[in-house]
This record gives sequence, structure tokens and C-alpha cells, in this order.
Amino acid sequence: MHSRPVTILAIESSCDETSASVCRNGTILSNTIATQEIHRLYGGVVPELASRAHMQHIVPVVSAAIEKAGIELNELDAIACTTAPGLIGALLVGTGFAKSLSLSLNIPIIAVHHMKAHVLANLIQKPAPSFPFLCLTVSGGHTQIVKCIGPNEMEVIGETIDDAAGEAFDKSAKLLGLPYPGGPLIDKLAADGKPVFSFAEPQIPGLDFSFSGVKTSILYFLRDKVKQNPDFIQQNLPDLASSIQERIIQILLKKLKRASAETGIREICIAGGVSANSGLRKAFAELGEKLNWNIFIPEFQYCTDNAAMIAITGYYQYMDGLFSNLSLTPSARAEWNIN
Ligand code: KG4
Ligand code: ZN
Repeated sequence: MHSRPVTILAIESSCDETSASVCRNGTILSNTIATQEIHRLYGGVVPELASRAHMQHIVPVVSAAIEKAGIELNELDAIACTTAPGLIGALLVGTGFAKSLSLSLNIPIIAVHHMKAHVLANLIQKPAPSFPFLCLTVSGGHTQIVKCIGPNEMEVIGETIDDAAGEAFDKSAKLLGLPYPGGPLIDKLAADGKPVFSFAEPQIPGLDFSFSGVKTSILYFLRDKVKQNPDFIQQNLPDLASSIQERIIQILLKKLKRASAETGIREICIAGGVSANSGLRKAFAELGEKLNWNIFIPEFQYCTDNAAMIAITGYYQYMDGLFSNLSLTPSARAEWNIN
């Protein structure tokens, strides 16, 4: 057991959020985030611009996290940073900064896998799920069902074979003429609509997901309707949004239900940016009630990309002595084992 508190600074820079967080003994003391608005102009994240914005934001974001936590740099026991997966130029900024700080403060560095951190975001709040639990992680880049046996022991038991759930929302929104990122807009519009239109349901065996067929089905459906009536989309936006949302949620929850039945696990979490979706949250709560699950969703600020989830993951790696070293290099790819 550690007799004195363990204080960790964490850095997240895998995509378009520059974020830093301080946690002490697993409690988050601060979580600062600089969101890069520039990408909205381009309809998606532009890697080069993301790297440059991280360079601009990293020092003020880390300083603010230290200040908000009310600590001095010399109180830090370790630095955790996201090293995979993500945009390589973006990851290099956070990792390079973390390595320099680790060298100058003479404290260890901890390499954190972004997707593992999304899962462990569920441990930030109390009560937290008990092990083993399942987590459906749904973001703009990934869709996975993870079996979490312990903080440092996870297994991916299902994942998308093509688009991620967030991409399915964003690409469908684009077909409706909505700006990027369209997921939150679909959510808003769906609140006033009904799921009256039906789109293809993928037939993928096991616990894997597929969303590309849904997107194609929406594309052809809209093309035919617009041919008959050029104003079809404008006249039916809420119902279209509701129908798209309903189909994506149904795909997600069907596999989550199957995963619970196959593993016998009823501690069930969702995480990632798409878990902000109000339709998904409602359907998840209803399913959990029906199947007698204990359900968990991280607080909104810990669902989208943030450094607090890197900090909590870093804390558990620290406790198990899972350190990296100063020759560590980030990786764009999502291989599950990076330590
Ligand atoms: O986890 P996240 O912030 O970033 C990634 O790691 O990708 O997830 C972003 C994704 C985007 O695709 C965005 O459209 C989607 O989450 N999203 C939503 C909602 N809020 C964010 N999708 C549907 N409904 C929402 N309310
Ligand atoms: Zn993420």
C-alpha cells in the first residue's frame, strides 16, 4: 500500500481536444479541455490543423489543470499520456510534452490506451461498476464492447467491422444536409420526430457491428424520395432524424444485450461521445430496467474525449507498476496492448 497520496498529471491529445487532468488517489482534482473549433469549417477533423492547435494549447491547458487542482508540479508522482490510438501528429504533441516533463521532473511516464481510458471513465463516479463489467464504447472513431475484468485487464469481445457509431450519426446527418458533427443535431431533431421510416438492418454474426449498410440504405432512400419531391428532406427532418437514431440505437443495444446474455454479466456501462445521445440513454435505461442490469454512464464531460479518463487509467496502471519509458513512441493504430 502507498502511505502517501499518489498524484498524477494526465494529457490527452489523440484527436481534436487538448486536455489535461490531475488526479489524486483516483479522485479527479481538475479536467481542463481546449476544443478545436477550426475543424467545423472543413466538415471533419483536419490532422495537420489538429497538431498545430495542440501545440498552441498544450502549455496553457496543462498549466490550468495544475492550477485548478491547487498543486505544485513537484507534488506529481507520474505523468500519464494517451499514446494510442489517434492521429499520429496529434499524439506526438501530447507524448512529446509528457516525455519532456517526465524528464525534467524526474518522474515516471505511463502510456495510456485511449479506448481503455474511455472504459475506465466509468470508475470516476461513485458508485462505480464492480468487476467484471461490460462497456459499450461508442465514439466518432470506435465502437466496441469490452469485457472489463479488472482495471488493467480488458478484452474486446465485439467491434465494428466498418464505420463507428459516431460516424454513422455524422455521415447520416451529412446526407440530411446538416453540418459536422451531425450527431448532436440528429439527437435534437429526433426529439420532435417519430421513427416512421425504416432503414436496412445489418446481419452481422456474433457481437460485431456494421453501420455502412445503414448509411447506404439511407442514401438510396433519400435519393428516391428527393427525386419525387425535392423538399422531402426539409419537410421530414425530425422524422428522418428519429428514424436514423432509432436504427443506430437498435443495432447497438441488440449486441449489448447479446453480450450480457453470453457472458452472464449484468454490470453494464456505456461510454464515448455517442453516449451523450438522449435516445440511446433512454433506451439503455429501459433495457437495463427490463433485464435487471446495473447500468452506468459517465458524467457528460467524461464521455467525450478528456484527460480525466487518462488520469484514472494512469492511476490504476501506477498502482500495478505499469510504467513506460522515455523511448516510448505513440501509435496511430488501435492494438490493444501498448505497455
Ligand atoms: O468520443 P468523442 O467525443 O470523440 C471521439 O473519440 O471520436 O465522440 C464524438 C462523436 C461524434 O461522432 C459526435 O457526432 C458523436 O460523438 N456525438 C453524438 C452526440 N454527441 C456526440 N452522437 C449522437 N448524439 C449525440 N447527442
Ligand atoms: Zn475518444
